Amino acid sequence: MITLILIVAVAALLAAIYLRGVYNEAYWKKRGVKFYQKSRALGIFFEFFKGDRSVLEHIEDIYCEFRNEPAVGVGSLFSPNLIVTDPTNVQHLTTVDFNSFMDRSIAPNSRDTLSNSLIFITGAKWKLIRQSMTPLFTSSKLKSMYYIMDKSAKDFVPYIKTNPKLKKGNAFNTLCTFCSAAMGAAVFGVTTESVFDSPFLKMAQKAGVTTFWQNLKFVISISSSFITRLFNVKLAAEHEAFFIGAIKQIIMERKKSNVKRHDFGDLCVALQEKGVLRDNETGLEIKPTDEILSAQAFFFFNAGVEPTATTIFNFFVLVGQHPEVQERLHREVDEAFKKSQGNLTFDIISDMEYLEMVLNESMRIYPAIGFFGRMCVKNTTLPVGNIKIDKGTTIFLPLFALQHDERYYPEPEVFKPERFSKENKDPIIDKTFMPFGKGNRMCIGQRFATVQAKAGIVHLMRHFKVNTVQISGKKIGFQKHLFAARLKNVDLEFIDR
Ligand code: HEM
Repeated sequence: MITLILIVAVAALLAAIYLRGVYNEAYWKKRGVKFYQKSRALGIFFEFFKGDRSVLEHIEDIYCEFRNEPAVGVGSLFSPNLIVTDPTNVQHLTTVDFNSFMDRSIAPNSRDTLSNSLIFITGAKWKLIRQSMTPLFTSSKLKSMYYIMDKSAKDFVPYIKTNPKLKKGNAFNTLCTFCSAAMGAAVFGVTTESVFDSPFLKMAQKAGVTTFWQNLKFVISISSSFITRLFNVKLAAEHEAFFIGAIKQIIMERKKSNVKRHDFGDLCVALQEKGVLRDNETGLEIKPTDEILSAQAFFFFNAGVEPTATTIFNFFVLVGQHPEVQERLHREVDEAFKKSQGNLTFDIISDMEYLEMVLNESMRIYPAIGFFGRMCVKNTTLPVGNIKIDKGTTIFLPLFALQHDERYYPEPEVFKPERFSKENKDPIIDKTFMPFGKGNRMCIGQRFATVQAKAGIVHLMRHFKVNTVQISGKKIGFQKHLFAARLKNVDLEFIDR
């Protein structure tokens, strides 16, 4: 009897999956949109779980097959899913028609305290928190915070020199150590010593490890807010006690000490002293509690470690493969140190033109994040292809694939920093280059992360030459990751200059 029930249940499930696939295809056909035939019901995340490739590679395959289409429908169990391939449509939905696509494609559970961060929250709540966090990322704030990052970068050099095993192999972890120290100082307040071995680093490394269960929790959060709430799926539950405790402590000490450090701690105190945050348009009010501020800090901290370390790592992989680029960069770095008598400032580092070009080109070839998403929050139409989009549709934006399309970047696999020189810069770059996303919901930490990465890079380049070490016989590829674009089969070696 049990066997029979099982057979009937499996048959019913398979039939439901089949019918969902048929429905998805018909849904997009009715809107004149081509439909990707693999995993017609379960979608790209099923392909991801089945194989050993990153989601960005699956999206890249689909993009290449359908790149002449303005968008392509893909399988999904719940809401309709669409990959938007046309740059004008990308621009439209991230900027022009932002109000119809203001949420992200992921809806975590509101009981998941640390997921109440800018990256995930929606609607008016997002608008209010984004406005209140923006003052932390202005040019003048960055300028005054620069010394924090510069100090961490400066201290990082003797840290490597006195630990020779850090010079070869496991470079990604070594770079995470720098990023964690710089972030720790910027987010949690400066100490006189840069902290290269802190519980925060361990937490960030743990948060960055992708396990099957962690991936599954993310995919559930992307697929259905109902199931996420029903099963109380939490993305960061294990870090709650430690992280909220640490932020509470920082806010308390900062209130007592009355010292201004221009960092996140100061912003928390100012917001709490001001009282309730209010959105005049909707009347929504939010109290800046320790918990909501901890959720912002948790994401800022993690974003400042893994993606930033990935960006620096990928930069050095490419620089190590191109000696002529490395030589020119060394010249620019040496001149900047000479000009500033060893004390680089925010203005000097921001004026290093070649560094900027090389960093941009490395983020084009190997961005730290492979794709990003949006959720349609009201029925609308995409201009190219006149595609009707229903509220509830999940949109994927293929940033890696767009940055590798030969129509926008001739010889896309060739590393050419000159693409980003002032004279050569093609206007199409503004539409298709998006390592930090696009539009009103783009990365709030873009300038912060860029300055942090540059600070680490210049101090390392001042003292070391970098060698790219490729694992013999194996092609550089991507690790199996949901969002990140982490390289595999390659490492770095730092050689004293
Ligand atoms: C090189 C390092 C980084 C990369 C490559 C990166 C990339 C991205 C990307 C692609 C997005 C999605 C944007 C979109 O949907 O349009 C994003 C969002 C975000 N990033 Fe970053 N990021 C980095 C570092 C940081 C840092 C250091 C912080 C904070 C200090 C940060 C804070 C955020 C936040 C809060 C969001 C969500 C913004 C919103 O939804 O309003 N990121 N980032």
